[in-house]
Amino acid sequence: MSVSFTTTQQTDLAFQRCLNPACATTLAVDQVAFACPVCGDLIDIVYDWDRLPVPRRLSDFEARWADRLNPLNFSGVWRFRDLLPFSPTDQIVTIGEGQTLLQVADKVGQYIGMNPGRLRLQYEGMNPSGSFKDNGMAAAFTHARMVGARRVACASTGNTSAALAVYCSATTYGFKAIIFIGSGKIAYGKLAQALDHGALTIQIVGDFDDAMHRVRQVADRLGIYLMNSVNPFRLEGQKTIMYRVLEQLGWEPPDWIVVPGGNLGNSSAFGKAFIELKHLGLINRVPRLAVINASGAQTLDQLVGNHGLTWLDGLPDMALAHSYYEKMDADGAKASTIASAIEINRPVNLKKCLRALDFCDGVVRQVSDQEIMDAKARVGAGGLGCEPASAASVAGAKKLREEGVIAPSESVVCILTGHQLKDPTATVAYHGTDQDNFEKVLGSRGVRRAGFANRPVIVPNDLDDIIRSIALYSEPSD
Ligand code: F0G
Repeated sequence: MSVSFTTTQQTDLAFQRCLNPACATTLAVDQVAFACPVCGDLIDIVYDWDRLPVPRRLSDFEARWADRLNPLNFSGVWRFRDLLPFSPTDQIVTIGEGQTLLQVADKVGQYIGMNPGRLRLQYEGMNPSGSFKDNGMAAAFTHARMVGARRVACASTGNTSAALAVYCSATTYGFKAIIFIGSGKIAYGKLAQALDHGALTIQIVGDFDDAMHRVRQVADRLGIYLMNSVNPFRLEGQKTIMYRVLEQLGWEPPDWIVVPGGNLGNSSAFGKAFIELKHLGLINRVPRLAVINASGAQTLDQLVGNHGLTWLDGLPDMALAHSYYEKMDADGAKASTIASAIEINRPVNLKKCLRALDFCDGVVRQVSDQEIMDAKARVGAGGLGCEPASAASVAGAKKLREEGVIAPSESVVCILTGHQLKDPTATVAYHGTDQDNFEKVLGSRGVRRAGFANRPVIVPNDLDDIIRSIALYSEPSD
């Protein structure tokens, strides 16, 4: 794999382009660069839609439902391949990702103050590695295969590394996974996946932001293919989450998409999906986007909400962001939240997220660990369970309902980004009876009460006692 930077022929149907309009350097699609070689900005994938075969209606994709024996049509990513047409079909990598579900969740809707039938949860925990990351990995591994990469690396708060490890272990193209994690900064379910799937796991003293910094240096130095969401092909795959949401709504856009914000890959990808769908005339209306930070990792909320950072046609005032980061460093501030997946203070896709917020009339909010854990318990009790970071979307939707930004009659889709079993520690601490454990895991983060705890009932090993407890605690509710 060589890193050379000849610019692309503009005749290419798909190419890579620097996000900075003042630079706009272009690269061929089969080149490898995770930053613009000229100005260092993010890279975008661009298509010459006028010369590409694009479906006339989104419903044209339905023809593929009847052909599930073809792995490309079975995949929830690649059945939309005409909307991410950067690779030859014989190079596509798939492990059957994207068999996800959009679930009406009235009990959760009631909790956040929505009318019946108006809240839906897009459950990305059904992916092979248990999180939305597989959407992006399917696309990035396809690109890695196109360019002949073998060693692939990422820094991760856990789910990216789990997905990376799964794609290496479940495919036969000779990929070797190298993952960087911060010490004590990864939930057990995710660490277990990386280890079980055979990834070389490098734990450094530091947090995600430190690990991200190092993996970029290492990828550069050793020519290893980088699988973090600075890789623009990841985001191409993550666009399909929105296609599947539309598909499950009969191709009618909802009023709101609510998504947790960490490294801001998802929000960026969703924005790009809607920009392209609108450009292609495949949708008439664009949903509003709400990106939800954890209060312990609130960079986006601060920069957008307090400092007024906006997209400005591709020329946002990034000096604002840099001085914010400098201040964080001077204060020794580190991200800290129970939602470890989004415990990130330097979101690499910040600029692309600004574009998404601009196009989708977006809003940003932050929610506390208390709000996250309470929302998570409500999701578990009223739908498919999720990990803490995912519940930030529901807690954020609740906040926006309370503020009157979201109306009860609007149609809202919260993205549940990761499976409940990813982080059993947080769940057991919340529901369990062990007060010391509650204090250690949650109390230390300012969570004061487990208002929706479903406590295990401790009973002597005696049949009468057991029967009495069941009578006492199992009154059916309506
Ligand atoms: N939800 C979950 C469950 C995640 O794992 C992540 C990110 C996010 C939300 C945030 O998404 O970065 O697109 O804004 N996890 C990354 C990781 C950083 O390393 O697994 P984002």
